[in-house]
Amino acid sequence: MLIGKPPDIPSSEITSRGAYLGYLSRRRFLKGAAAAGVAAVAADRLSQLVSPRTTVRAGTKLQTVPSPLTTTGEQLTPYADITHYNNFYEFGVDKGDPAKNAGGLPTRPWTVKVDGKVAKPLNFSIEDLLKLHPLEDRVYRHRCVEAWSMVIPWVGYSLSEFIQQCNPLPSAKYVQFISYYSSRVEQWAGQDPGIYWPYSEGLRMDEAMHPLTLLTFGLYGETLPNQDGAPVRIVVPWKYGFKSAKSIVTVRFSDKQPPTTWNDQASYEYGFYSNVNPDVDRVPWSQKTERRIGLPFYQQNRTTLIFNGYKDQVGSLYAGMDLRKDY
Ligand code: MTE
Repeated sequence: MLIGKPPDIPSSEITSRGAYLGYLSRRRFLKGAAAAGVAAVAADRLSQLVSPRTTVRAGTKLQTVPSPLTTTGEQLTPYADITHYNNFYEFGVDKGDPAKNAGGLPTRPWTVKVDGKVAKPLNFSIEDLLKLHPLEDRVYRHRCVEAWSMVIPWVGYSLSEFIQQCNPLPSAKYVQFISYYSSRVEQWAGQDPGIYWPYSEGLRMDEAMHPLTLLTFGLYGETLPNQDGAPVRIVVPWKYGFKSAKSIVTVRFSDKQPPTTWNDQASYEYGFYSNVNPDVDRVPWSQKTERRIGLPFYQQNRTTLIFNGYKDQVGSLYAGMDLRKDY
């Protein structure tokens, strides 16, 4: 995961996305390459002055229906922030890099392969997936372990609808999600972000089957921009954002807990569960509060809620577990 000090500049007071920079990658930090990191950030700021960022292609409108599972009463994060303040290491480690670099992600044709503990391996085209169930508008809070948050109007349907079509065997206890990878990823990233490819995440089967877990195709009523994980990603709103794998190409059912990217990198900080929990800090961030992106400075700081505020819906999944140990 990223490490570094967020800029103290409120997003509302900046005109360039370049001002969001200032994060150094965990890997670079762990390697003690702080000086190199600072130089890279300075160079990136300079390049922003010369060549400002652009949004990667406009989305296609999706036909959606309202959802009873939508989160109400929160101000939505502006589209520009959701699409220009991203973590998608395949396209670079700085927040603005995915919007700049993700144009080459080949989102058509796109196939999601299903394998592992299933009655029979299957392939779903993105067109199959888009038709599999009505697409719902679901607003969720989105909380990153870096202590920033957003409120995003996603479009998708419960992952459980898809899993039912996969015919998992009774021995399937976990689901792994594997993101798109090709050797071009290194080229896109521009520098070694220091994580193992392909990006991989996983859930326990009951977490994957929970109705809030969203197979996600869009946001703000349109197809996902590439930098947000086109053409299909996972969203698990009660967990830190890194559990939500982008641009998935494989769904693998397993009887064992699957390897996951950040847990492999630093298991002492990034547990398999990684439920949002204000009582368990992740170095260097306290998880007690968060900075809501896109709001005026004086409204940004807010208290982080256990399970990102979804305790009533998901708390029972963890009954009897020690959430400090199973973090
Ligand atoms: N998926 C892939 N394939 N690669 C990534 O680097 N980053 C994760 C997650 N999914 C990541 C990924 C992290 S750390 C976060 S916080 C969220 O995506 C960010 O999603 P967003 O950019 O849409 O806000």
